[in-house]
Amino acid sequence: MELRNKTIVVTGGASGIGAAMCERFAREGARGVVVADLDGPGARGVAERIGGLGLDCDVTDEQALRDVVAKTEARFGPVDLLCSNAGIFLGDGPEGMATSLSNEGWQRIWNVNVMAHIYGARAVLPSMIARGQGYLLQTASAAGLLNQIGDAAYSTTKHAAIGFAESLAITHGDQGIKVSVLCPQGVATPMLAGLEDSPQAGDGLLQPAEVADAVVEGLSDERFLILPHPQVRTYMERKVADYDRWLGGMRKLRRRFLA
Ligand SMILES: NC(=O)c1ccc[n+]([C@@H]2O[C@H](COP(=O)([O-])OP(=O)(O)OC[C@H]3O[C@@H](n4cnc5c(N)ncnc54)[C@H](O)[C@@H]3O)[C@@H](O)[C@H]2O)c1
Repeated sequence: MELRNKTIVVTGGASGIGAAMCERFAREGARGVVVADLDGPGARGVAERIGGLGLDCDVTDEQALRDVVAKTEARFGPVDLLCSNAGIFLGDGPEGMATSLSNEGWQRIWNVNVMAHIYGARAVLPSMIARGQGYLLQTASAAGLLNQIGDAAYSTTKHAAIGFAESLAITHGDQGIKVSVLCPQGVATPMLAGLEDSPQAGDGLLQPAEVADAVVEGLSDERFLILPHPQVRTYMERKVADYDRWLGGMRKLRRRFLA
């Protein structure tokens, strides 16, 4: 997809990867970039910088996402690209069990990291299908292809997000709908503040602008899997080639970081 003259919505656009995408999309000549975030002032701040529209939106509220789409259509026309990017991170905590996080925590992260993708797609798909075109970019994580040590809920929800993105691509590809899933390892954003020396930082942190560059390239190629850290492909291949060996390697890494 060429981004020039396109109408784009970015959830979680007030900060980090989302803000970098908004800035880059504006530079690519988008017709309108809508920055939607729980952090309304932050969303409006980014929007002001790029001449877009900043909106308050809690992506776990389906009606709020529908309202964002309606306001976008009224201002800029039908949504060409929805970047469902808002996400949260909750770890296992000091108890260190894969089951440690409370049920409330599991539900909260499920609502943001999974259900919001479904609500977003539901809000734009009918119009996209009617027009025979449209693009959905889902921000997941390398944690959804591999795993993130010490973060069972994050890993689980990111796997689910990738499964949903696959279903979107399989079900709606023949209707002209394009889908990409963005799967970075560590990126230097507020989400990773204080975790620079943890397994989450993996092979080193990318800057959000570098991730936005990878997104624009992936969208231009209309590639399903966007991997800003290219080594993730090798790790995936190793996982698929020998799951037990891969799990052994992950346990070794866990001992190194969390012992
Ligand atoms: N930072 C990383 O290392 C990394 C790696 C892989 C994937 N990701 C994913 O990238 C996405 C963006 O993360 P980031 O690193 O830029 O984090 P960030 O914390 O800088 O930005 C996340 C944004 O999402 C917003 N948000 C959170 N809950 C929301 C809700 N309910 N409704 C609307 N907005 C909400 C926040 O206000 C914030 O502006 C997330 O989905 C995250 O899981 C991040």
